[in-house]
Amino acid sequence: MPRNRTVKDYIRTIVDFPHEGIMFRDVTTLFADARGFRMAIDQMLHPYAGERIDKVVGLEARGFILGGAVAHQLSVGFVPIRKKGKLPGTTISQEYQLEYGEAIVEIHDDAIQAGEKILLVDDLLATGGTAEAGIKLIERLGGEIVGCAFVVDLPDLGGRKKLEEMGMDVHALCA
Ligand code: PRP
Ligand code: ADE
Repeated sequence: MPRNRTVKDYIRTIVDFPHEGIMFRDVTTLFADARGFRMAIDQMLHPYAGERIDKVVGLEARGFILGGAVAHQLSVGFVPIRKKGKLPGTTISQEYQLEYGEAIVEIHDDAIQAGEKILLVDDLLATGGTAEAGIKLIERLGGEIVGCAFVVDLPDLGGRKKLEEMGMDVHALCA
């Protein structure tokens, strides 16, 4: 291992999880390391230094861990986007396709006020289906997305292209 480890060095790949053929990027090893976790949060925020951000929105589940830390660092609120049926209040829903399956995500309909500047956070960008659904939910509530921040981008799966074609500013720490 190099002396000065990068964020990527802390992430392990598990072959054939959760299905055969998937190279699963496991960020729990990054989160478990104090230096690695701090480095990831600092680097995710770096492109947005000086920008107005009113709220951080995190995508279930690993986006909650990153998004919570990012929101704390910015001293702003955190809003979860959850898989269907988990949020207790009144929600709006969005269907989406995954690299392996399909699902519905939801947000509380009063979680974002029109015109609020939002940073969307998740651990990984693959096909972009999850982030696209999140973007749609935020925009349906009138939020203005400042950027989409990820730890890992898997560019071969087309997510970055999809989000950039939607006009999003996309940043990832490693591929
Ligand atoms: C993973 C990952 C992203 C999403 C990326 O979550 O954390 O949210 O997939 O894939 P996409 O770009 O193809 O949409 P997952 O759906 O495994 O949910 P989990 O975090 O709740 O396990
Ligand atoms: N979500 C979708 N694809 C993934 C992958 N290859 N590793 C981790 N999370 C994922």
